[in-house]
Parts: sequence; C-alpha cells; structure tokens
Amino acid sequence: MKPLISLKQVGLKLGHVQALSHVTLSIHEGEQVALIGANGSGKSTLLRVLNGLHRVTEGAMHLAPCRQAMLFQRPHMLRTSSLNNVAIGLWLDRSLGLSWQQAKLRALDALSLVGLAGVKSQNAATLSGGQQQRLALARAWAKGPELLFLDEPTASLDPPAKREIEALVHQLIEPQATKPATTLVFASHNLGQVKRWASRVIYIEQGRVMADLPTTDFFNAECLKQHSYQAFLFLQGETS
Ligand SMILES: Nc1ncnc2c1ncn2[C@@H]1O[C@H](COP(=O)(O)OP(=O)(O)OP(=O)(O)O)[C@@H](O)[C@H]1O
Ligand SMILES: [Mg+2]
Repeated sequence: MKPLISLKQVGLKLGHVQALSHVTLSIHEGEQVALIGANGSGKSTLLRVLNGLHRVTEGAMHLAPCRQAMLFQRPHMLRTSSLNNVAIGLWLDRSLGLSWQQAKLRALDALSLVGLAGVKSQNAATLSGGQQQRLALARAWAKGPELLFLDEPTASLDPPAKREIEALVHQLIEPQATKPATTLVFASHNLGQVKRWASRVIYIEQGRVMADLPTTDFFNAECLKQHSYQAFLFLQGETS
C-alpha cells in the first residue's frame, strides 16, 4: 500500500535550532501513530512537518493529496461565537467549496457532536479550557479529515474532561459503514492514552527518531532495550 506521507532523511532547522535530523518514516492509511518524547524533543515540529506546515531544509518528503486537519497544542480561539469559530475555518477552506450558510450548518453539526451546541452563540474566548479543547476538536473534525493530527489533545484537562475528549476522539476515528478508520497521528505525554489509541509508537529525542515500533513491542521492555536503550530509560522514568 502506498503511504499517505513519507519522509526520507528529513532535517529541519528553525532559527539556530536543529529541530529535526535524519527523520525517515512513512504513515499509512488507517494507522494510529503516537509521537512521544521529552519536552522540546520535536513532537510538535514533526506534526507540523507531516501536516505540510514547514518546508523541510534537508531530505525529501512526499504528501499524498488527502483532507487533513490538525488540533494544535495551543488552539487559537477567534474572539467570536463558537459557531463562527468552526464555520469560518470551513468557509475559508476553498477545497470544501461551502457557502457561508452551508458552513454554518456543518459547524452546528460538529458542535452538536462534541456537546457544544448549547454554547454556539457564546464567545469562544470565554469558554473553559475543556470546552475550548472540544471546540478545537469540532473545528478539526468538521473538515471531514482522512488524516487527523492531534498535538497533546488532553494536556491540562482534568480527568473527566480527559475521558470525555478520549471517548470523542475514539468515536470520531473508528471505522463506520460510510468511511474507513481515520488515520491519526498524535503527540502525547500520557502513556495510558498512547496504549489506548496507538497501533504504533514513535519515540523522538532531540529531533531524531530513536524507536518506531508497534505499540505492544514498544511497551515490552526487552524489545525496547534492543531497539533504543534511551527510549527504554525514558519509559522507565515516565512510569516510575
Ligand atoms: N519557531 C521556532 N523557532 C526556533 N526554534 C523552535 C521553533 N519552534 C520550535 N523550536 C525548537 O525546536 C525544538 C522542538 O520543539 P517542539 O515544540 O517540536 O518540541 P515538543 O516535543 O513538541 O515539546 P513539548 O513536549 O514541550 O510540546 C525545541 O528546541 C524548540 O525550542
Ligand atoms: Mg509540543
């Protein structure tokens, strides 16, 4: 099967920082891929590269044409209603070709799906953190993505809100009669979430991929020690 995304020996310099080095990987349709690593290791940068938001400075990358959407680590809310926050993004996306009325209808559907129809007229900047996260998810989901990028979607949420977002994402990506499973690439520091969502784990350190394994192998200490002792140590630190 042809990959949706492939990177070969990709490097990226941001200012004076070598944010990514020698990254070689492919993402295939239907995969759920977790990116993990310490703060500053390059997870968000890699997500932006995969989403086509950075022009890489070394190596080669190929993105197959498909509908993509991304939930950013710090989602930006426009100072207007929740409904407009979703509808404007849809309306401005020329590839969707929606009129303003159609964009608003689709936005309302997405808000209902994430349980925010009741606050559709409320200024999005005044929503709680958990509500803003759900709104950001609705904004990404409303585009009908085949490939979804989530950058720490549940960081800074309390446990019930975390569970709520997790259940929503699960519902959104699972295969249905009308569509195959959505391809998901997400960054997370929550290893429980990684186990629940991911079929594959990529561990990054200082902009380099140190391990790229099926989830069960990644959490198997012996296998991890063979592939990357540093990833093994990271995991020990995280779980202790
Ligand atoms: N626009 C930029 N200009 C210069 N350096 C940058 C820029 N964006 C990111 N970096 C640097 O690139 C490195 C990787 O940052 P990145 O945000 O990808 O890390 P991360 O793994 O997502 O971290 P976190 O877990 O804290 O979200 C860091 O050293 C960061 O300071
Ligand atoms: Mg990040």
